[in-house]
Amino acid sequence: MTSVGIDAVELWTGNLKLDLAETFAPEKGDDPEKYTKGLGLRASSFPDSYEDIVTMGANAAKRLMDRKGLEPDDIGRIDVATESSFDNSKPISTYIAGCLEQVYEGDFHHANKGERKFACIAGTQSIDDAYNWIRAGRNRGRKAIVVATDTALYERGDAGEATQGAGAVALLIDEDPDLVELTMEQGYGSADETDFLKPNQQFPSVDGKRSVQVYLARMREALEDYESVAGDVHLEDFAYAPFHTPFPGMVRKAAALAYRHVTRDTEHEEALAEEIGRQPRRESFDDDAEYEEAVREYMSALKDTDQYREWYDATVDPTLSISRDVGNWYTASVHVARIAALKYAYENDRDVTGESLLVASYGSGAQAEIHGETVQDGWHEEIAELNVDEQVAARYDLSWAEYEEVHDRHNHDMDKELEEFTTPNEEFVFDGWGRMGERK
Ligand code: HMG
Repeated sequence: MTSVGIDAVELWTGNLKLDLAETFAPEKGDDPEKYTKGLGLRASSFPDSYEDIVTMGANAAKRLMDRKGLEPDDIGRIDVATESSFDNSKPISTYIAGCLEQVYEGDFHHANKGERKFACIAGTQSIDDAYNWIRAGRNRGRKAIVVATDTALYERGDAGEATQGAGAVALLIDEDPDLVELTMEQGYGSADETDFLKPNQQFPSVDGKRSVQVYLARMREALEDYESVAGDVHLEDFAYAPFHTPFPGMVRKAAALAYRHVTRDTEHEEALAEEIGRQPRRESFDDDAEYEEAVREYMSALKDTDQYREWYDATVDPTLSISRDVGNWYTASVHVARIAALKYAYENDRDVTGESLLVASYGSGAQAEIHGETVQDGWHEEIAELNVDEQVAARYDLSWAEYEEVHDRHNHDMDKELEEFTTPNEEFVFDGWGRMGERK
């Protein structure tokens, strides 16, 4: 059976930036380290007044098609994952295809277009759909483009405000991929939850503290489900573990949970036992509260051990380097984490060809999915082509007053006149809801 996976990726950040330590924290009267150390974020990306989910997605997809030398005829499927849609009927993929048709000779008339929604996990689900379409042999030799695009904004004053972000990732799904092959096994943890939702509203209603617990609970279930089909996960199996990253502090918690789970009854647990004791076992406690307290204590001690830190610094921390500077991109977030990991390997001359990634996606509402990926021969050339650092460095640094205006404007307040802080540079620009972006 031919291998199927991600052939190439491209990323597009919103062109504005809000600095959390310099601008956000002083305005809120908070210690900047709450954001830089506690949440692990330095800045968020924001869209300029001429950017939205369509333009960011189309810009990422255009870079992807140009770099891979593709024409519309090569593409049999365009799926967009977003939770920031402005249209309840027409999928965002039609708007993005409309943008792209302005600049290529052909068109996407014979491509299947759709839109996927399940909070942040929808990007991974769209990749799954494309994978299944190719594996089923229905692609007629054509490739799929998946675009994960979001403006992740919260109500001003909401605890989530510090974790905002805006950007898109475009992924090319194909046979014999150059970047990563997807493996067959998947694990899911899924349950009806109401800690983060947007019923007919632009900004989410969020119970932030509970959302952290729900993320961890679903992730644990997904890992157990994954192991039930793929066999036990071992620490040594994976070069990197990209997780859904609403903010790096969330991933620190998820990584510790995963570590505890996969080291139970192994030599790693034994090696730690002298220092911090063995992991608490449920059967040794009279009730849940006592057990949970013992687990909390164990996890807190675990995070300070050299053994854990060494694993975390090598396997998880590299996945967070982009997210720290751009914030939560919702559907694109785990795909940003994968890019960050491979970029780190590239920059540190580590050859990860043939090695595995443990990819952990999550969407509120709530569902986690875990699967494995194998890094392919072409990964080095693919990652070398990205210009992530240039894009991130080129963003305009907003003052607080400018941030408030931009925030209002992206709350679909289209009557609000807003200056452009940056100048579009050969990119699609927004020209009104329901109309396609125009290239400037
Ligand atoms: P908060 O309640 O304002 O923050 O917001 P906090 O008081 O919990 O502090 C955050 C961390 O900073 C804590 O660390 C503090 O100790 C630390 P922790 O105990 O968690 O390890 N801290 C400091 N550290 C150093 N120096 C200091 C300092 N002060 C405090 N001076 C909250 C946190 C998560 C509630 C908020 O950011 C929020 O509501 N976020 C939005 C929801 C969210 O991102 N949830 C994550 C899980 S759900 C998810 O990922 C899905 C999502 O992407 C949506 C989707 O799927 O569509 C959101």
